[in-house]
Amino acid sequence: MSRLTADAPAKVNLTLHVTGQRDDGYHTLDSLVVFVDLGDRLTVQPAPDLRLTVGGPFAQGVPTDDRNLVLRAAHALARVRGVDRGAGLQLEKNLPHAAGVGGGSADAAAALTLLAAFWDVTPLPADHPEVLALGADVPACLSGPGPLHMTGTGDHIAHAPALPDCALVLVNPRVKTPTPQVFKALASRHNDPMADLPHGMAFDDFAHWLSHQRNDLLDTARSMAPDIDRVLDRLQRLPAVKAVGLSGSGATCWALVQDMAAARLTARAVQVAEMAWWVAPAAVQRA
Ligand code: C5P
Repeated sequence: MSRLTADAPAKVNLTLHVTGQRDDGYHTLDSLVVFVDLGDRLTVQPAPDLRLTVGGPFAQGVPTDDRNLVLRAAHALARVRGVDRGAGLQLEKNLPHAAGVGGGSADAAAALTLLAAFWDVTPLPADHPEVLALGADVPACLSGPGPLHMTGTGDHIAHAPALPDCALVLVNPRVKTPTPQVFKALASRHNDPMADLPHGMAFDDFAHWLSHQRNDLLDTARSMAPDIDRVLDRLQRLPAVKAVGLSGSGATCWALVQDMAAARLTARAVQVAEMAWWVAPAAVQRA
């Protein structure tokens, strides 16, 4: 095996309800998760041992040692499948980190898939305990790229009904809202599950449904990062935008638009007004 590459697409929570908290502190969630056509990229080639280099626009501050989920995933797969071989991994970080779009989890899932092929071993299933131990979003990232309904602590994954063609504009004000801190600061919970997503909705109905959903981490995230309100306000005022929300624990916000042409125009309008923000048009993966 010479050289293999895998995409690690960003995950976006279009809804996120916190439905409870377990004795071990983890929160149970109910979330509609989609994946988009942008993300990190992982390449592997032969090496005498396990090693990782990181490049790309968001490489700064990303550890290359065992704190990185890519190497933790590699060790987990090697341990479970009894692999005693090396792998030289290169990670291209295109996604902001601590940003609610699952960068580290996406990278871990890509590493599990890529290395199973590279080492020619059976991939770990999404519900394997070692997968769950890597992070709450890793089972979802292994189960994409179609829309998913995520429950439990992220360990129960089901396919969501098909969505209409649509696109997103992702905007991060370059403020970090680390997931553990947001969950720790979560003051109150509604504890109710997400409303069922009806099947076969047209774009306008989907946009209407989505604009009545919520992310239970929003209030906590915006109190830690007030720029989130500026992002949501600006997105909401743009004519093509039909619904807005926060992904995961933030601070990346999304805006729903009908297609990629609208996404590109909307992204340009935001970027011109706010040069410092990370702004990206993104196609929602349908399957
Ligand atoms: O699993 P992950 O690394 O994404 O989670 C980071 C932290 O966020 C956890 O250690 C936990 O404190 C919190 N968390 C939670 N409930 C979840 C997911 C994460 O409380 N479902």
